[in-house]
Amino acid sequence: MTIIAASILAADFARLGAEVEAVDRAGADWIHLDVMDGHFVPNHSFGAAVIRSLRDRTARPFDCHLMIEEPGPWLAAFADAGCQGATVHVEACRHLDRVLQQVRETGMRVGVALNPATPVAAVEEVLDHLDLLLVMTVNPGFGGQSLIPSTLRKVRRLAPVARERGIAIAVDGGITLATAPDALDAGADVLVAGSAIFGAEDYAPAIRSLRAQARA
Ligand code: DX5
Ligand code: ZN
Repeated sequence: MTIIAASILAADFARLGAEVEAVDRAGADWIHLDVMDGHFVPNHSFGAAVIRSLRDRTARPFDCHLMIEEPGPWLAAFADAGCQGATVHVEACRHLDRVLQQVRETGMRVGVALNPATPVAAVEEVLDHLDLLLVMTVNPGFGGQSLIPSTLRKVRRLAPVARERGIAIAVDGGITLATAPDALDAGADVLVAGSAIFGAEDYAPAIRSLRAQARA
């Protein structure tokens, strides 16, 4: 079953609460929250206070994607704000094993993300800790970019290992009706989509069609 995670980075920030309610009603499974620090990625977005303010707008799980350097000290704040899952970047953690244990201790689902240039080997030694592997299909920092095709080869390589261990694979960046079939074919379980949902006139059919892209 494909999970659709709606990335609110592409939402209307002036109406964020209403946007979260709208994608909930439209059938999104998870709300994907892109936190950026202006260091790990060349952009800022929002932090735990904004996430907390959205928590009572939906019962859907909050899937927090932390694009921040050394996220360890911030994890408790995101758990307190109401996140069910936290995904940290392998490139942003000097002691990745420790940070993943810290995520586990907060009670949140444990995720790790890999940038397009980061090889599969970077997560080999931490697979035991993981619930989710997020393969960045664009360079992180901005919505609306085009999917980098080589990243789907990485998904394909990770898929058997992930399946064997019950780890879900998410793809994030440039996921559209045109790219979703290949991403799903490569082994993605979770489609993170920003512009493909919030850029649509009507969110429900956009989510429905993304979900329907799984090839029989
Ligand atoms: C990018 C973020 C993505 C972003 C995806 O750094 O991690 O979640 O919102 O946006 P689209 O779907 O527009 O490529
Ligand atoms: Zn993201």
